Amino acid sequence: MSNITIIKKKISKFNKTISVSGDKSLSIRWVLFSSLANGISTAKNILISEDVLAALKAVEKLGIKVILKNNECKIFGKGVSGFKYKKNITINAQNSGTLARLILGLLVDCKYPIKIIGDKSLSRRDFKRIADPLEKFGVNFNLKNNKNLPLKIYGSNNLKPINYLETRGSAQCKSSVIFAGLKTKGTTFIKAKKSRDHTELLCKHLKIPIKIQNKKNYDLIKIQKVKQIKKLNYNIPSDISSSAFFIVLTTLMKNSKLIIKNVNINKSRTGVITILKKMGVQILFRNKKVYKGEKVADILVRSPKKINPINCPTNLNSGAIDEFLVIFLVAAKANGISYFKDLSEMNQKESPRLKWGSKILDLMGIKNISTSNSIKIFGNPNLKINKKIIIKNYLKDHRVFMTSVIAALSFGGQWYIHDKNSISSSFPNFLKIINEIKKND
Ligand code: S3P
Repeated sequence: MSNITIIKKKISKFNKTISVSGDKSLSIRWVLFSSLANGISTAKNILISEDVLAALKAVEKLGIKVILKNNECKIFGKGVSGFKYKKNITINAQNSGTLARLILGLLVDCKYPIKIIGDKSLSRRDFKRIADPLEKFGVNFNLKNNKNLPLKIYGSNNLKPINYLETRGSAQCKSSVIFAGLKTKGTTFIKAKKSRDHTELLCKHLKIPIKIQNKKNYDLIKIQKVKQIKKLNYNIPSDISSSAFFIVLTTLMKNSKLIIKNVNINKSRTGVITILKKMGVQILFRNKKVYKGEKVADILVRSPKKINPINCPTNLNSGAIDEFLVIFLVAAKANGISYFKDLSEMNQKESPRLKWGSKILDLMGIKNISTSNSIKIFGNPNLKINKKIIIKNYLKDHRVFMTSVIAALSFGGQWYIHDKNSISSSFPNFLKIINEIKKND
């Protein structure tokens, strides 16, 4: 089967209700917490994607039994110190920065060195950002070029708690240090720039000794060694980052409406909603509830009559960090110039994403001026594309692929989007849902 998606026709207006797959951040965290728990934990609606499968394989390598059937998964945890450390373990994190960085926090007590490898995209990403704080616990690292994968972690049996100042707004770094903290005697202190707080919420839910003070621009976290973690049965809510593609598709249409069921609307993840609302899009949360500490709701979105440009406040960056590529498409159709800044972290993702955002807009004929951390987008409310556009060599970044599909369906043109299998890391059902939306009722 060809690995190129060809789109030559815009989508017609729709009125649909859909469900997207389970949240990726929550799925990976569920795997890791359950591997430390005492007893059998069960997850329903776990995301079945390569990143999550890599997480399951990783804990299996550490001696933890896993059973996966359809979208239900069981993990047979053996307690906080239950990993079986053998000689010569290699963990392949494939495309997942979240898995590679978070699991390092759990490996701080490993008895033999463990090697972490990943695919081409992950191997160019920065691991010094997590090796540095973990080394302060007493762990040692050997990193390719001092900052990349493959790396080796050399654990310690004499871990010391640390004070950690997290300045990037990286939930992966923060979470990894929390994990190391819960294996270390004494109190680990973290002052972290705001970022997604799923790890903290799960710690609270599991009654792990954590204290959190939420300040305006940062959080103060204290974590202590935990003796036991109870099993975690979890019905994983749907992923807002996956939902964002369809929210934007509806935004770029005329006279369309979409409901997305049971989505995680944790405030640290809803930057995309806040930004689109500021741009004049009507988005409502319905049937709001709290599930195991996480907010969940159905999302209703209607096509707006007009899209306003935005000078995007930087305090919304971390809550929308994975969504900016697709948000740029909305700015491309806005009635004026939009400006997004302080976004250098985007270039640290699966591909240099800010560069790709600019490149997609260039190919679409949208004037934009980008630097290493900002982009100015000159919107055109009447944008119609008639030419051939080829998207390739983007390090198989799933979000570049999905953003290109949304652009093709919304603006027209003849699009040849390579590496369709890039979606298998985060959202294998993406094209199936596109087809559901396309179907006439
Ligand atoms: C994630 C955190 C974010 C995000 C990534 C998932 C997580 O990365 O981009 O897709 O689950 O903790 P950073 O923490 O590096 O910003």
